[in-house]
Amino acid sequence: MSRIVVMISGRGSNLHAILLAASQEHWGHAVVGVIADREDAPGIRVGAQAGIEVAVVPRRDYAEVADFERDLSRQLERFEADVVVLAGFMRILGDQLVTHYSGRLLNIHPSLLPAFPGLHTHRRALEAGVLVHGATVHLVTPALDHGPILAQSVVPVRSGDTPETLAARVLETEHRILPRAVSWLADGRIHLPTHPGVGHVEIDGVSARERLLILDH
Ligand code: GRF
Repeated sequence: MSRIVVMISGRGSNLHAILLAASQEHWGHAVVGVIADREDAPGIRVGAQAGIEVAVVPRRDYAEVADFERDLSRQLERFEADVVVLAGFMRILGDQLVTHYSGRLLNIHPSLLPAFPGLHTHRRALEAGVLVHGATVHLVTPALDHGPILAQSVVPVRSGDTPETLAARVLETEHRILPRAVSWLADGRIHLPTHPGVGHVEIDGVSARERLLILDH
């Protein structure tokens, strides 16, 4: 059984999706803690209502990012985290923390990486005129939004889409691919590429097709 900690900054709908999956009997892993970097994150209630301990480490209480990261690390150690999930955690973690949890730290990003790393992905996708958009679950490496890809969802862009309507359809897929990828990592089924950097990840018992979700509406 792996001990999973979910880090959030906002609404917590991906946290909710993970908790729902974790409540299924066959899941076999436990979400042992939530860490929020803002005391007003609505997702804190999502964790608390599920009876999960929530540690709030407000970024704005710290003058130095190093002190903030030290306290994040302490919370992760206190929870004895095996797997750490960034689920709408809107901070870039420092290299030390990322390296410490290397291969055990994953992130959900709302675009088809490597397209549109960073912020405002839905607006940028519409501006670029792409016909497909989506979300990516990837392992976190020191290079922002560039770690090895575990799962992706593909969402068609509709004429008349706004960043909000597109975001809503992408979010629906995030809730499906993120819990799956978390369970693969928690199961210890993920084999990293032999060369450092981005490459094809092998996941025991999971085909490439099963790692791809295509939304057809
Ligand atoms: C999601 O779209 C996620 O991909 C992005 O931030 C959003 C978080 O949503 N990084 P929620 O807090 O899980 O509802």
